[in-house]
Amino acid sequence: MTTKTYKKSKLTLFGMIAFFVLVAMLMQVAILVYEYICGWTDDKLLIAVLILILIFILSSFCVIFDYLRRKIMVDRPVSKILDATEKIAAGNFDTRIEIEHTHDRYTEFDVIAENLNILAAELGKSEVLKNDFISNVSHEMKTPLAIIGNYANALADPELDEETREKYAATLMSASDRLSRLITDILRLNKLQNQEIKPEISNFNLSDTLAECILEFESKIEEKGIELECELSDVFVSSSSSLLEIVFSNLISNAVKFTETGGRISVKLAEADGRAIVSVSDSGCGMSREVGMRIFEKFYQGDTSHSREGNGLGLPLVKKVIDILGGEISVTSEVGKGSTFTVVIKK
Ligand SMILES: Nc1ncnc2c1ncn2[C@@H]1O[C@H](COP(=O)(O)OP(=O)(O)OP(=O)(O)O)[C@@H](O)[C@H]1O
Ligand SMILES: [Mg+2]
Repeated sequence: MTTKTYKKSKLTLFGMIAFFVLVAMLMQVAILVYEYICGWTDDKLLIAVLILILIFILSSFCVIFDYLRRKIMVDRPVSKILDATEKIAAGNFDTRIEIEHTHDRYTEFDVIAENLNILAAELGKSEVLKNDFISNVSHEMKTPLAIIGNYANALADPELDEETREKYAATLMSASDRLSRLITDILRLNKLQNQEIKPEISNFNLSDTLAECILEFESKIEEKGIELECELSDVFVSSSSSLLEIVFSNLISNAVKFTETGGRISVKLAEADGRAIVSVSDSGCGMSREVGMRIFEKFYQGDTSHSREGNGLGLPLVKKVIDILGGEISVTSEVGKGSTFTVVIKK
């Protein structure tokens, strides 16, 4: 956090000198008036009354001066800040306080105002994120729910032949799978973000974890006639095997999903500079630079033709896990040629 420099609103040296000059001037005026009155009359009572009046006038002048100073230098900025905090507390995060001075002449009030402006902007941002998240979740839930509703209705038809019934039942199952994956992924992401999942660190052979992840997709790979190439050398890492499973399952799932029938996928594990390097390459549809820059955003799906097969939460989960484990992830891709995701994990 950077410390902001500002002028403290206590009396500066110049202010103190000005104050004492003012007091000296007032005393001088009082002495002059006293001498003038003494020369003018011998009446002691009159002198006392006139001096009292003079003191009253002088002190009134000081009070008015101080009142105006406070009004301009303290009350005005405080009331502006109060107004703004009331609006922010009422949920109006677009509120901003006008800053009175330039950076080099900042007062404490300017710093408070600037900090409150930053706070309002941050609250506004998280409000937008929350609303986007809710609308994304609702949108993602709508499609499978509509499918489940429609196909459940259709299945209730007693006239249905066996083949159509099986087809409808399969569609129902895949919609409910998608719904349950959506909820599992949201809960996982939420737990990771709130640090409720603590990585259980152990020493294990990363090639075993990768082999298990690949096996998960074996039937899908066969079904699509994809050629699979694996180069897994034994690399032992001290990390969380269950969290890394999330990473590699998602990367392999994407490689399978975005590679057309008859394509090629390669999974490699090697060791360099005391780090484990895993690459998952595919000869699939690839992605443009614009898509590549957004793939780690929640619910982002660049390739709309596959949007029914997922929710856009896989890579955000991968990124979160990599951040927690202190690793790195990068991607190179070319439209129509394929993509390579590279994960680096410290051993
Ligand atoms: N191997 C890949 N080839 C081409 N595009 C990819 C690849 N991996 C990811 N993408 C792009 O990145 C987007 C985000 O990926 P992500 O894994 O987060 O979501 P998803 O796979 O669409 O859905 P989910 O992972 O929730 O099933 C994808 O929709 C796709 O556009
Ligand atoms: Mg995915």
